[in-house]
Amino acid sequence: MFRIVITGANRGIGLELARARHEHNDIVALVREPSDELRALGARIIDGVDVTDQASVEAAAAELEDVDVLINNAGLLRSSSLAHLDWPSIEAQMQVDAFGPLRVSAALAPKIKDGGKIAIVTSRMGSLADNTSGGAYGYRMSKCAVNMVAVSLSRDLASRGISVGLVHPGFVRTQMTGGNGHIDPDAAAAMIWERIDELDLENTGTFWHANGEVLPW
Ligand SMILES: NC(=O)c1ccc[n+]([C@@H]2O[C@H](COP(=O)([O-])OP(=O)(O)OC[C@H]3O[C@@H](n4cnc5c(N)ncnc54)[C@H](OP(=O)(O)O)[C@@H]3O)[C@@H](O)[C@H]2O)c1
Repeated sequence: MFRIVITGANRGIGLELARARHEHNDIVALVREPSDELRALGARIIDGVDVTDQASVEAAAAELEDVDVLINNAGLLRSSSLAHLDWPSIEAQMQVDAFGPLRVSAALAPKIKDGGKIAIVTSRMGSLADNTSGGAYGYRMSKCAVNMVAVSLSRDLASRGISVGLVHPGFVRTQMTGGNGHIDPDAAAAMIWERIDELDLENTGTFWHANGEVLPW
């Protein structure tokens, strides 16, 4: 039985990542507020965890031991076009999407077993090479930055046998997309789990589409 810690597991992709592995593993959901669906799952819940808040993240880390897999899933998407740059929302996305996974990974790293895994649910909108349409300043910058976080984590944690992967889930029908998308969260979660299962020290630091395609930086 693996101990799997997932941020933002109260809804959307995070909830389905938890549901997919709940039966045979020890899932720990780090959330701000548990949802009824998460409660119904019966997973262990640590609430009051805001990935932008150092104290709440440290308090959660203090309750954890022997973590096999950490999934940084919590994320925030707000629109920000060149004509309407909303600085508070750009800063909020940097806090949640870029600094959040670094804060959580750093706090939990001592609690992750040697040989464990860290996954970060990123977005191909953070790809420099794939940016053909511009816009989305806060989201693109924050996901680009978190891609760098993952590569540095992969280097820093390799000596402990901990591998780190970046996974773009696809265009998924969640609250984040207003219910628009190509796939449902359970299908995205299944593919993300395939990538995490394949993650090892040979491919650590890779940026994947959940479908297995390696994405350009
Ligand atoms: N859906 C897509 O098409 C798509 C595409 C590319 C990448 N992604 C990425 O996939 C991940 C999951 O997104 P989703 O589609 O499932 O979105 P979602 O339904 O909007 O869920 C977002 C999750 O993040 C949590 N969260 C937001 N801010 C937080 C904070 N400050 N502290 C702790 N938790 C926080 C939310 O918790 P609350 O309920 O407390 O707000 C919620 O659990 C995100 O990283 C997103 O960027 C999604």
